[in-house]
Amino acid sequence: MVIPAALALAQREKWTGDQLLRSIVGGYEMAVALGSAVRRSGTCNPHFRPSGIIGAFGAAAVGIVADPNMTADKAASALGLAANMAAGLNEWPWAGGQEINTHMGTASRSGISSFDLARAGMLSSKTILEGKDGLFQAYHCGSEGADYFREFIKESELGIGVMGVKFKPVAGCNLIQTPVAAALRLHAKVAGVSGQIERISIVTTTVAKEYPGCDSLGPFDKVQQTKMSLQYGVSAALLYGRINEHAYRQYDNADLERLVQRCIILTSSEFDEELTRGRQPCQLKIQMQDGTMYQDSMPDVPWLGSQAVEERFRQEASSGLYDATTVESLLDECHSVGSRPDCSRLFELIASRRT
Ligand SMILES: *[C@@H]1O[C@H](CO)[C@@H](O)[C@H](O)[C@H]1NC(C)=O
Repeated sequence: MVIPAALALAQREKWTGDQLLRSIVGGYEMAVALGSAVRRSGTCNPHFRPSGIIGAFGAAAVGIVADPNMTADKAASALGLAANMAAGLNEWPWAGGQEINTHMGTASRSGISSFDLARAGMLSSKTILEGKDGLFQAYHCGSEGADYFREFIKESELGIGVMGVKFKPVAGCNLIQTPVAAALRLHAKVAGVSGQIERISIVTTTVAKEYPGCDSLGPFDKVQQTKMSLQYGVSAALLYGRINEHAYRQYDNADLERLVQRCIILTSSEFDEELTRGRQPCQLKIQMQDGTMYQDSMPDVPWLGSQAVEERFRQEASSGLYDATTVESLLDECHSVGSRPDCSRLFELIASRRT
């Protein structure tokens, strides 16, 4: 939600590369402050998508940070207006709708509108977060959320938001990452004999089991559903040994369907405890028809490091979007944009995508 808003404003306002980078840091900071506060109590209404609740708020911060004429009052109004523009429901993991993709765009656009309205002099409620009918109450996050937000702003070091960003190893829900990673490690054991799997036990956190779309046996006919389902992700990883767009689209594969129906999801209070410390452990147990058991445990998601993220970018960007030379130029420009007097070279490269 933050980076698209930052790129759009950088282009419109002719920002320097330094302004662009600062705006991204500021956007992440506010999105993480609100996101952590919203998740704090564990009671936040799960019908609303977290990215939708926090997105416009983060995107409004983008403009605030880079605008040399910004005042504290105008900044508060921009954020307050953005808090009113929280949107995005969690029906899509069940029904497979593509609105998951519009949530982010809507948030970016709303953040920019909030920033523009505040800059033009429109005022918002200063108690929009903690008030009687403010955001924390509206989304059922309780007063704990407001306290946590206040503390975060006062005490955290600047940059903690963007530096805490983690990168998922597979496309799909955050909550399926460790189970899928463990299943990929167990693939070698069951390759060729997956027809003899009797039971697949996925031990995970209560949050993962209860999150919309995660505990789902299908039927599936959209990637929005398969990318959320613990059962689908684990079964596909065991069967194919890799998870890519192709693996997410095997809606009618009988072998896969058989495995999905043999999955059971269990939760562990120890894992729930670990989740409060930011880790997402998982244990996977596979029982074969002859009684053999295979199991694997992982303490957390094997998050990607910066090299792996660049590698992923190379793969995705060069598969149809850009030629290999442009991909390298884009990476170079991202590394050096901070010292550029404007962002025109970056936009030129982005716009050169194949049509
Ligand atoms: C900031 O204010 C000055 C003085 O009013 C004005 O000239 C300038 O265009 C403003 N800059 C932006 C980015 O709005």
